[in-house]
Amino acid sequence: MSIRVIHDLEEFRAACEDVRRGGRLGLVPTMGALHRGHLRLVERARELADVVAVTIFVNPTQFGANEDLDRYPRDLEGDVAKVESAGARLVFAPSVSAMYPPGERTRVRVSGLTQALCGESRPTHFEGVTTIVTKLFSVAGPCTAVFGRKDYQQLKVIQRMTQDLLLPVQVVGERTVREGDGLALSSRNAYLSAEQRESALGIARGLSRAVRAHHRGERSVGVLVDMVESSLREAGLEQDYVTLTDADTIAPLSTKESCADRALLAVAAKCGQTRLIDNVVLGEDPAPIAEEA
Ligand code: PAF
Repeated sequence: MSIRVIHDLEEFRAACEDVRRGGRLGLVPTMGALHRGHLRLVERARELADVVAVTIFVNPTQFGANEDLDRYPRDLEGDVAKVESAGARLVFAPSVSAMYPPGERTRVRVSGLTQALCGESRPTHFEGVTTIVTKLFSVAGPCTAVFGRKDYQQLKVIQRMTQDLLLPVQVVGERTVREGDGLALSSRNAYLSAEQRESALGIARGLSRAVRAHHRGERSVGVLVDMVESSLREAGLEQDYVTLTDADTIAPLSTKESCADRALLAVAAKCGQTRLIDNVVLGEDPAPIAEEA
């Protein structure tokens, strides 16, 4: 059966209801500009559900005033072909006015978890994410929804929100997909020149050093953070944050502390004008780069 692309909100709601009458619906929310990481999310959703719907919506409320909303890459036709080949059966690509009707005044906000890491430099970002994800859950009513672990903080925030609002959706995180050289796949990689792409590898290099050190028994937050910071400096990247946190609460650890056997090491850095994020859960994830050259 070929894929159905729906722009109208009520038509999508009805199509999702039809699916739920006969089986489980899996949802993969995206902002388009899809890559293999997104297709992995679709494949995971297929394992968990009978029919997979992908939403493609560049959500304006999660972008700050000086961010890349206007230039965010858009390619609906190409995206539809990709998710069809990965096994999705429905695509929902609504307009901004459908998702944010005139006069709208409501936002969904999760406190605590949203303050550190990306929340510091993007103070309104997560409110935009949780608002749109709540709306998408409300329209689709999925049984399960899959998000990438590259946006680890986002995943934790959405899981918290889903529990707090008693939404009957199983929120699943899927591992980060990387290029052969370790660079985490991201729609924003499309902005990078060849030279910038080379510099961007400093992030994966730093995380890999820290994973190996942690594996050898290093637990000093200061030492582990410093390994990543020096890799960013060597690569000429502008650090936004390099932070070790509790893997569940996202509470940052001070550089004077020791970390647990399982802890989140998260990075955001600018490569030219492009802000990239990446992370590993120490004690759980493999090094992004298998062996240092
Ligand atoms: O991860 C993304 O692409 C977006 O933040 C999401 C979850 C689709 C909400 O707009």
